[in-house]
Amino acid sequence: MTPIAQSPSTLQSLMQEVISIARRAGDMIRTEQAGFDKAQIEMKGHHDYVSYADRKVEEFIVSQLTPLVPGAHFLTEEKTQKDKSQDETSTYTWIIDPIDGTTNFIHNMSPCCVSIALRNDHEILIGVVYEIGLDECFYSCKGDKAYLNGQEIHASSCTDSNHAFIELGLPYMSAKEPCLPEYLIKNLYGKIGGMRLLGACAAELCYVAAGRFEARIEENLGVWDVAAGGFILMQAGGRVTTFYNESSDINDEDSWLDAKQLLATNGHMHEFIRTCIQEVR
Ligand code: IPD
Ligand code: CA
Repeated sequence: MTPIAQSPSTLQSLMQEVISIARRAGDMIRTEQAGFDKAQIEMKGHHDYVSYADRKVEEFIVSQLTPLVPGAHFLTEEKTQKDKSQDETSTYTWIIDPIDGTTNFIHNMSPCCVSIALRNDHEILIGVVYEIGLDECFYSCKGDKAYLNGQEIHASSCTDSNHAFIELGLPYMSAKEPCLPEYLIKNLYGKIGGMRLLGACAAELCYVAAGRFEARIEENLGVWDVAAGGFILMQAGGRVTTFYNESSDINDEDSWLDAKQLLATNGHMHEFIRTCIQEVR
């Protein structure tokens, strides 16, 4: 396995290729969404929907990424990868959600997005999230800033919780978990500027990165839901941790990348929200 060069310019040109793949995958999703027949919906679990479109888009993304980093592994939500070129000694892994916001997709709603991250062992090198409804591509690579369609983005400077605009997520495993959003809504209602549940975690992390929201909170996500968006948010000056571990290091045993808990903020709201979570847990 030959390591890829990690100079800023090499990573930037690799990122440009990933952006092009994410945009083409997004075009596929747009086409499928326009003609989507709800009879095609399948169930992966309780209220956990999927369709042929998720698998088709994932196969396309894997086929396009495979030659970019020879031997790299794939960690994908729909587990379609049949690529035999993966090299056991490779330290590189593509982490892919072909359609984040599948429930939005099947109901012809936005946001829904493509999410692609490249991890090398102990660090994330590239994150790209393309949201099809607003034609917004968010991206960053190691050593660079974070961007939305070519414009630099930054997490918000809001320090006043009274004006914080906060996104919550509802995990699929409703039967197993006490419903954190229910308790958080009760605890936060009247204390903050507003709350939303948009249904596409990767896009929502990028909305925090772009300063539209101050925070995004959820439990029991998949690594593909959080890898690219969490990286982009940190590159934009935000903070991403679990509810209890204060470190953002993805090598921690209890890391946000394992996505058992996701507390993602503009940084300023982190302790306020952590306290609110602890009050209801
Ligand atoms: C889901 C979305 C949603 C979140 C769920 C995820 P999917 O991913 O990110 O916002 O609340 O927990 O599973 O299934 O649409 O890729
Ligand atoms: Ca998905």
